[in-house]
Amino acid sequence: FYVDWDIATAEKGGYDHFMLKEIHEQPKAYRDTMGSRINADGSKIVLDEIRMTEDQIRSIRNIHVVACGTAYHAGLVGKSVIERLARVPVEADVASEYRYRSPIITKDTLVVVVSQSGETADTLAALREAKRQGARVLAITNVVGSSVAREADDVIITWAGPEIAVASTKAYTSQLIAFYLFGLYLAEVLGTIEAADLRKTIAALQELPEQVENILQQSAKMESFAKQIAAHNSLFFIGRGLDFAIAQEGSLKLKEISYIHSEAYAAGELKHGTLALIEEGVPVIALAAQEELLEKTLSNIKEVKARGAYVIGIGLEGNEELSEFVDAAIYLPRTLSLLTPALSVIPLQLLAYYASLAKGNDVDKPRNLAKSVTVE
Ligand code: G6P
Repeated sequence: FYVDWDIATAEKGGYDHFMLKEIHEQPKAYRDTMGSRINADGSKIVLDEIRMTEDQIRSIRNIHVVACGTAYHAGLVGKSVIERLARVPVEADVASEYRYRSPIITKDTLVVVVSQSGETADTLAALREAKRQGARVLAITNVVGSSVAREADDVIITWAGPEIAVASTKAYTSQLIAFYLFGLYLAEVLGTIEAADLRKTIAALQELPEQVENILQQSAKMESFAKQIAAHNSLFFIGRGLDFAIAQEGSLKLKEISYIHSEAYAAGELKHGTLALIEEGVPVIALAAQEELLEKTLSNIKEVKARGAYVIGIGLEGNEELSEFVDAAIYLPRTLSLLTPALSVIPLQLLAYYASLAKGNDVDKPRNLAKSVTVE
């Protein structure tokens, strides 16, 4: 199977690469994915496509999120979103591991498969195994009519539009939006969210597209950081909680297209592991966008600074004291903690893009990777 996009004629819309075009399409992708799934007065999530009954939702005992690559990283955020909003236990696995670890699947397990293409062989195999064991399957996918969409019991389409660049950007962030919508929907049915909090979260979701536009205006800053790190062979991404999930995605994106090695570490874990690799001049991208964890993250930033790291911080507007602890910083518009991933990943996408560009790589078609992998 292969996807027959006519790449030669598909418009880059004035951008040098599809990846940059797709990064800039994210505000629209957010809006389109939310679309009519939020009611007119912003008080309710409307997921008409979900055929699961409210009784079936109430009988869910556990949720397994299964995906590959970038979609798996969306699943890591999805796990926190669902657990925090709906208080249902969630596990996230890469599809190629899931099937072989004898996961505990019952008829009260909901398996959520996430796939941009809807054709990834590992993900499809996991879906089939989950169904064989009696689970109900929900797919989050970008391609209507894809194998994953056809075989799942329920489907939430991400309306990101065709994604051409191998490195996923707008499909990933649309998957985050899908998880926010689904998490809120579950919370509503299960009664784990107050009406006022639901409204507040919906209002914050609706602000995201404009906030992404604001971050995109800071591209020049990310370009200059990218030029600085392009000369290095190795770097670290650190963060706590949801920032750690974004650190993992930022690291993957950078590796995929710039070929610079990096490692994502839970900020508090570095001292239990590879802190010895932090020496004079090693770049560390520190995510400090989880307000309630800020103090803890700052102390981890001090640990790497003390060993000579060159630290680029990603923080929230209003927390500019971060600049006292790092060498350079970029600030994101404020939103609810739970929603920060939809903002904090944007500078990391730009960092990867500009680092790849600085190294003269083929940004849209990195070596050894395919957009959709249909073999196990
Ligand atoms: C391939 C791509 C990755 C992608 C993964 C999952 O390996 O190179 O960028 O994240 O497949 O793809 P999917 O279409 O299932 O989201």
